[in-house]
Amino acid sequence: MARRFFVGGNFKMNGSVKAITDIINGLNNAQLDPNVGMSGADCFVDHNRESDTVTEVVVAPSALYLMLTREHLRQGIEVAAQNVFDRPNGAFTGEISVSQLKDAGITWTILGHSERRVILQEESTLIARKTEAALNGGIGVILCVGESLEQREANKTIEVVTAQLAAVAERVKDWSKIVIAYEPIWAIGTGKVATTQQAQEVHYEIRKWLASTVSQEASENTRIIYGGSVTDKNCRDLATQPDIDGFLVGGASLKPAFFDIVNVKR
Ligand code: G3P
Repeated sequence: MARRFFVGGNFKMNGSVKAITDIINGLNNAQLDPNVGMSGADCFVDHNRESDTVTEVVVAPSALYLMLTREHLRQGIEVAAQNVFDRPNGAFTGEISVSQLKDAGITWTILGHSERRVILQEESTLIARKTEAALNGGIGVILCVGESLEQREANKTIEVVTAQLAAVAERVKDWSKIVIAYEPIWAIGTGKVATTQQAQEVHYEIRKWLASTVSQEASENTRIIYGGSVTDKNCRDLATQPDIDGFLVGGASLKPAFFDIVNVKR
């Protein structure tokens, strides 16, 4: 079965009530691929259509704007948190639990973003616990992995990325609600997008790792998406690669160019 193309917008710590409302209105009025958001189960794939791709779209505003976004955004586009705590409701000042996200209609969370690994010093073991908690609570996980420029130049990319994944595999056996986002740190926010070859190579190695460490089914079905300076200009070439199943978009997700990225498979 073809893997559903997946496009996520990571707004990061950007926006205001007005700016987020403007983005919501833009998405609600955008001419998106008619298949956007139809669930794989009930999507009628019309082989005469120019695009048979069922594109899954998820946007991730800051936590403060999650309920505003869910309340006003068109059905069919899902809303993701950018983080979640690994413990259930309780005395954890400042944190948000999986059940609170679920209660607010939030169906995904980003975890392991390099900005949380580097700036907030989140270890892979904590990210693994958060992943397990999110999945057990019925929330999908966009699991970010990626290497630094120094690690790439030292030819340690695959070693680093598979170690980050292995920490999750220690705790999680069912990967059906995980989307893996390969985000080379040196491409995030720099305008230096990975070449199609660089991205495809790592995605291929991740898929090989899934087959050898998790299961053949996980390898075939898990979406592996690319993030790092994706724009409406470079997404088409990247989307042609056999192991690139979509994108996690930062800066460009705050602009109308995001609609063209969502429609890349049209
Ligand atoms: O999570 C996506 C993000 O890290 C990529 O950011 O601005 O390079 O698209 P950007």
